[in-house]
Amino acid sequence: MELHDKSIIVGVTGGIAAYKAAELVRLLRKAGAVVRVAMTEAATHFVTPTTFQALSGQAVFVDQWDARMPNAMAHIDLSRQADLIVVAPASADFMARLAHGMADDLLATMLLARDCPLLLAPAMNRQMWENPATRRNVAQLRADGIGILGPACGEQACGEVGAGRMLEAEEILEEIEAFLTPKLLAGKRVLLTAGPTFEAIDAVRGITNLSSGRMGYALARAARHAGAEVTLVSGPVAFSAPAGVDRVEVRSALEMHAAVMARAADADIFIGVAAVADYRVAKVAEHKLKKDHGGVPPIRLLENPDILAEVAALPRAPFCVGFAAESRNLEAYAQNKRVKKKIPLIAGNLIQDGFGGDANCLILFDAAGAHPLPPGPKTRLARQLLEHVAQLCAARDAN
Ligand code: PMT
Repeated sequence: MELHDKSIIVGVTGGIAAYKAAELVRLLRKAGAVVRVAMTEAATHFVTPTTFQALSGQAVFVDQWDARMPNAMAHIDLSRQADLIVVAPASADFMARLAHGMADDLLATMLLARDCPLLLAPAMNRQMWENPATRRNVAQLRADGIGILGPACGEQACGEVGAGRMLEAEEILEEIEAFLTPKLLAGKRVLLTAGPTFEAIDAVRGITNLSSGRMGYALARAARHAGAEVTLVSGPVAFSAPAGVDRVEVRSALEMHAAVMARAADADIFIGVAAVADYRVAKVAEHKLKKDHGGVPPIRLLENPDILAEVAALPRAPFCVGFAAESRNLEAYAQNKRVKKKIPLIAGNLIQDGFGGDANCLILFDAAGAHPLPPGPKTRLARQLLEHVAQLCAARDAN
């Protein structure tokens, strides 16, 4: 999600993880948000306000009595401008004060006076996190409707290992984006395929294609952000699984077919983004083929099952979406694939636009005709495609 029209306050409290808040502010601003920073006095011992001012491009607030606010009501004015407040790091002491409704500094007062959602990214030593007092405070904060992000497990600044480490800035950004995305697919189970398949020839060689997995991973991530429970059956790609997405790693088309068919009956929506090999090698050589063994080896091919067509033919088939990458005649070929595979929607892209890069040009084809999407990043196109899917699903459910 892009955060262009969002105003976000980052609250920073006293803890060594405050250095990660600097990166978070940078990432939020890069994503297009207007970011304002409010710090506790303790936080200024770890990172200076000047750092946050430079990164946010906005004045930083620490003091409740800040004379820059003409009405001396920084706590009200700042929070009224915000779509969301994120406190990262949230120290054990700060969470205790918040759980008890204390308002003894600018940040705590602002949170008490806020009318926007609040997320906390706790950061503390593992024993502080496990302490019954902290457990009580976290439970209270959750009950008050405050979102708790993490914490992660791992090595801590004190040298100990355990739960209490603040999430990384990228992970917090991911959670913020998910939080702010409208939940168009709440309650839906979405199954996707992504990436290429690899059809082995021998122990080291194979037939594959140039799909990077970017389009499929962007869709998996966007579906999770839209509130769906997401399973991603992925061919070999270079990415880690998107947060909150259940990834099943496969290599060949037959493995992808088995992984999808085992899960398709439980899915509400199936999206086939993978560039699946149409053919596999009939007899895979166990060892590396040797050049000096009597000329060019013949490679006989067998047809792979059509995963998308099989899912669409299930008795209670999920809502099926296909992709078509073509080098010409995009509309005719894509619509032909849609009709042949008996699916309600197919996303067409030209090979030179779709394969590999971060951006794409998509045209959606359904029974009503063609719906071109403005060219752009795959992350945005993924959101727009899911909006169209949500509309068609809602229309289908209404009939
Ligand atoms: O991964 P990226 O680099 O981001 O690139 C994205 C993409 C170009 C791979 C993607 O946008 C795309 O177009 N994917 C489909 C590629 C294609 O042309 O597939 P196809 O025409 O072979 O198949 C049509 C549809 O049937 C696809 O949804 C495909 O997943 C599905 N299929 C095809 C063959 C098969 N055996 N089983 C299938 O399920």
